[in-house]
Parts: sequence; C-alpha cells; structure tokens
Amino acid sequence: MKVDGHPYRTIWLKPGNPRVVQVINQIKLPHEFAVDDLSCLEDVCRAIRDMTVRGAGLIGACAAYGMYLATLEAPDTDLSRFLALAGSTLKATRPTAANLAWAVDRMQRAIGTGTSAAHQRHIALQTANAIADEDVAHCRKIGGHGLAIIADLSRNKHGQVVNILTHCNAGWLAFVDIGSATAPIYAAHDAGIAVHVWVDETRPRNQGASLTAWELGQHGVPHTLIADNAGGHLMQHGLVDMVITGADRVTRNGDVANKIGTYLKALAARDNAVPMYVALPSSTFDFGLRDGIANIPIEERDPSEVRFISGQNSRGAMDALLICPPSTPARNWGFDVTPARLVTQLICERGICDATEMAILSLFPEQQ
Ligand code: MRU
Repeated sequence: MKVDGHPYRTIWLKPGNPRVVQVINQIKLPHEFAVDDLSCLEDVCRAIRDMTVRGAGLIGACAAYGMYLATLEAPDTDLSRFLALAGSTLKATRPTAANLAWAVDRMQRAIGTGTSAAHQRHIALQTANAIADEDVAHCRKIGGHGLAIIADLSRNKHGQVVNILTHCNAGWLAFVDIGSATAPIYAAHDAGIAVHVWVDETRPRNQGASLTAWELGQHGVPHTLIADNAGGHLMQHGLVDMVITGADRVTRNGDVANKIGTYLKALAARDNAVPMYVALPSSTFDFGLRDGIANIPIEERDPSEVRFISGQNSRGAMDALLICPPSTPARNWGFDVTPARLVTQLICERGICDATEMAILSLFPEQQ
C-alpha cells in the first residue's frame, strides 16, 4: 500500500544489506512514520513483544525473518540446536495468533532439508521471502472474494454508501500488505463502490484509532472513528450494513479468536441481523483445535496498558496519561473468542465459507 504516495510493505530486507530486516514502527504511528532495523533474533523478539510489529500475518512473517537472522547468528557446528532454541523463543513472544507458530514450524521444516550450514541459510532466506510473498497473495485473494459481498450490498442499496464496521487493525499493517479485513474494503473502494468504515478505537492499545484510521486515510477510504462501545447503537439505527474483522486464530469448526471486544460486536450484530464476516488467510487456522473458548490461548498483557492511555500531547510529544486512581488494579486480556454460531461467513484466500467444520474442510480438504 502507499504511504504519502510511496509503495510500502510492512517488512522487507534492507536494500544493500540482506543481513538486516526493516519494519515500519507501529508504536510511533500515526504521529510519526519510522522504519526500524532488526539485525538479530533478539531484535525480532523485542519488536514482536513490544508491538513495534503486530497483527497476526505480520508477526508470522517477522518470526520467519527472525529464524533467518538466527541462521546467520548460529555457529556452523551447532545450527540445529541454536534454531530449536530460536524457534521456542519466538513462539513464546505472543501466544494467541496461530500465524507465528505456523511460520516458525514451516521455517524449521524447510531449514531441516538443507545439507550444509550455508545451504540452510540460503533456504531460510528463500522460505522467509516466500512466507511474506504468500501473505500478500493470500490477502489479495481475500480482497477479491470479499469484494463480491460488498458489491452485493451496494446493489441492494441501489448504490448508496455501504457502511462497514471493523474492530482493531486487520489492515495492511497487520500483514505484509493489503490486510485481511481491509482487503475487500480496499478492493471495493478501488472498484468505485461507495463505502464508509466505522473504525472502533480498540482500547487499550487503540489499534483502530492509531492504525486503521491512518491506513484508511492514506488510501482515501471514507471512515469515522467511534468509541468502542458505539457499534451496538449504530447497528440498532441501521447504520451498519456489515461487520468485518480479522482473526488471530480460527479453529477447525470456525470459532474465532480476535482482538478483545470482537465477541461483543458479534453479539450486537446477531441481535440486529447485521452480517458478521471474518477474513483470514489459511495460516491463521488452527486445524488441531475444535473448541476455541476452551483451547485458544488468550494473551494477557501488562495492566498498565489499561490504566494509562498513550498518545500525542499538545507539544507534539508521545505521552502516557493515567486514567484511573493510582492504586486501581487492572487486567488486560488481549483477545476474546467469538463462537462460530455468531459468524456469518469466513473469507479466506480459497473462497468464502460458512463457519462450520464441514464448510471449512470443503475449502481445505487436505486437513480432513
Ligand atoms: O494485538 P495485535 O494488534 O497484534 O492484534 C491483532 C489484531 O490486530 C487483531 O486481532 C486483528 O483483527 C487480527 S490480526 C490480522
């Protein structure tokens, strides 16, 4: 996607120095556009942990490049043991999104086929690049499939604006490019369909306010930022034609883990007969799980993210403000699980399906 007219991905190899990975620093957005260098495994782990990079697809791709950087750090004689440790360190950075462990496992399998340390390093780079490129290709296909849904809504409204509500950031910043939930929105906008996006602020990290609003603005998509709790009210008044979110992990029967608050949006959508779509690439499925509420690990983050709100102060500097009495205890769950029965359909790179095991496996028969 473009930033001030220049095309960017969220992660790439530093031009002229393939031993360094570069990423857009998402902590500084929307107030500053900065690019960070990641030169070693520890840099990658820190960037994922502190959310310099975030979003299911992007932390998968970043972990893949982390494994590649680990091959550069590893001694020739001890590469396998070093990489096993690197893999478990990366997997421990953030537990909920399936993409991260999926990428590490894929890197380990591919590197394991190498016949020498040099060969393994070569394979690591090729595989990380392939994971990043596939992420983009899958998001583009999701956009094509989801476009048909928005086009239908637009036809039913005789070309009036289609109002779409989204939660958190499942945009291009959450992937390598294009995004999952935003892919159909960008495709519809680019096709000349009138769309407008209600952007949930997404407390406590405010990914909607700081990231989704920024990237929709960069692409010229009409949007309005709303308080997290406004969605139900808008749906009751006919102001939402569809909800579309991304996902961090989806079970084989269609339970969806996504940013905390998604479940409440799905409940409100069901109560108001608003369709609730979830867009995801196949790397977000966890085909080994059936019961999302019981089995998807939910990350619990530092309570200070709830007790303080971060943003730009009147002098233009980043600041954090305490919003509760100093001694108030807080808890901070990063994700919740929306049961499959509340999801209208899933939009994947292979097509659109109901959120049921049978429908999902009809798109992914190799997972039977
Ligand atoms: O905590 P984050 O920002 O890494 O959370 C991930 C998300 O942005 C959302 O849950 C998103 O909808 C899924 S990621 C494509």
